[in-house]
Amino acid sequence: MTIGYVFATPFSREGERLSLGELLWDPGTTSRLADLVGPGTRCLEVGAGRGSIAGWMAARGADVTAVDLDASRLDWLRARGVSVHECDITVDALPGRRYDVVHARLVLQHVRDRAEVVRRLCAVLRPGGHLVLEDTDTATTLGTVQGVLRPDVRAAAYAVMAESGYHPRCGLLDVDLALRAGLVDVHAEGRAEVVGGGTPAGRWFVLWLEHLRPAMVAAGQVSSVDIDAAVAELGDPDLRWLSQVMITVIGRKAADVLAA
Ligand SMILES: C[S@@+](CC[C@H](N)C(=O)[O-])C[C@H]1O[C@@H](n2cnc3c(N)ncnc32)[C@H](O)[C@@H]1O
Repeated sequence: MTIGYVFATPFSREGERLSLGELLWDPGTTSRLADLVGPGTRCLEVGAGRGSIAGWMAARGADVTAVDLDASRLDWLRARGVSVHECDITVDALPGRRYDVVHARLVLQHVRDRAEVVRRLCAVLRPGGHLVLEDTDTATTLGTVQGVLRPDVRAAAYAVMAESGYHPRCGLLDVDLALRAGLVDVHAEGRAEVVGGGTPAGRWFVLWLEHLRPAMVAAGQVSSVDIDAAVAELGDPDLRWLSQVMITVIGRKAADVLAA
């Protein structure tokens, strides 16, 4: 069984893969965060990746802390006043406390003990602060007019990810996790993008398969030839498919009556 974050395995194009994911998802994320983040807002960006959202928060004048298992891709943010920390959110203490906004995108879906991580994230929110969780639901992934594109390869990729603790319906699961953590005014909605073959967003899907290729082939469900065929289809400019549904869950930590 694979232990740990599934994309922590060596892959020379991982930085590029993360950038393409940012390109695909950032407009939706920033439009949902815009009402919550402004000058002086204390923000914690969790599993910050390459840091586009932490950078966007800082550009809005927020006071930003960013954490990730691998902080090497976040160095550029230090010059923008972001406090960068390398930590494992499942075991290490989170830096700082009393945040106004804690945001994690495409992170919770990869950790095993999600309820405990949500509890940890809530613990560093100030009373009245907001937790924003964004994870995907894979119901729509690679859906085309003709049906799901290469369902064998899609299933093999998700099987490899599930081995490391990934949950394919985590976006929906986040709603229950937020409610169980005691957050109030919990609101959730989802967005799927239409992705064109050969576009930058399309390449995010190609690099997803390329990163997982060795593990998929080793698992034996599909061959490298099957993956080559899927990659070729994803480069076809005449093809369009649906992304995963990115579900945004926003909940508020109830005001602390004792502290009021
Ligand atoms: C799919 S990437 C998403 C990156 C970024 N949030 C985004 O949406 O562009 C998941 C990120 O979470 C980080 N991550 C995964 N497990 C983690 C953990 N246990 N503690 C801290 N960071 C973690 C990974 O290193 C990676 O940067």
